[in-house]
Amino acid sequence: MNSRRKWLRLMGLLPVWPLSASAATLAKTAKATEGPFYPESSMRTADVDNDLVKIDQSVKDANGEIVYLTGKVTDTANEPLSDLRVEIWQCDVNGRYLHTGDRNQAERDAGFQGFGHAYTDQSGHYEFRTIKPVSYPGRAPHIHVKVFRDETVLTTQFYVKGHPENASDSLFKRLTSEQQKAVEMEFIETNGRNAAVVNVVC
Ligand SMILES: [Fe+2]
Repeated sequence: MNSRRKWLRLMGLLPVWPLSASAATLAKTAKATEGPFYPESSMRTADVDNDLVKIDQSVKDANGEIVYLTGKVTDTANEPLSDLRVEIWQCDVNGRYLHTGDRNQAERDAGFQGFGHAYTDQSGHYEFRTIKPVSYPGRAPHIHVKVFRDETVLTTQFYVKGHPENASDSLFKRLTSEQQKAVEMEFIETNGRNAAVVNVVC
């Protein structure tokens, strides 16, 4: 740095970072397989909103531990991505998916929507009300996630932070520790609401 720049910085006339520094780059959220149980339109309930606990017209709510899943979708420069469709799907509290191909013999929870979608707002936020995911044979608890613009931008899976089955889950194990941290849901009870925040970078 030349003496003129040093002097300008001392005078507070230059930013602390060199002018050539570019915006911070965030790591993209790791992709994961869609898996066999993405429900096609014909398999979904008529209600596909962001509240998977309550199906419209249904008398009974879903069984399971009710949680909120929220977060922000941004690009790698941390710019919020608005109007993106975010879809989630997961098995019910009995381990059954809303999918005709699921051979799990457990009874399906008719009160659980199983699939829902939300749109990101101007600041990139999405929100779902759902149940805390449970494990089923061969997998640690997880929520499947897809983010769309016109076509799929990202397909991934979120896991319960600190769950003992994570360490033996074949898909979770493939991720680096940084990638794992980025897709972990840490559920925190605040004002009677158990919520996890997972930001998505794509
Ligand atoms: Fe799954």
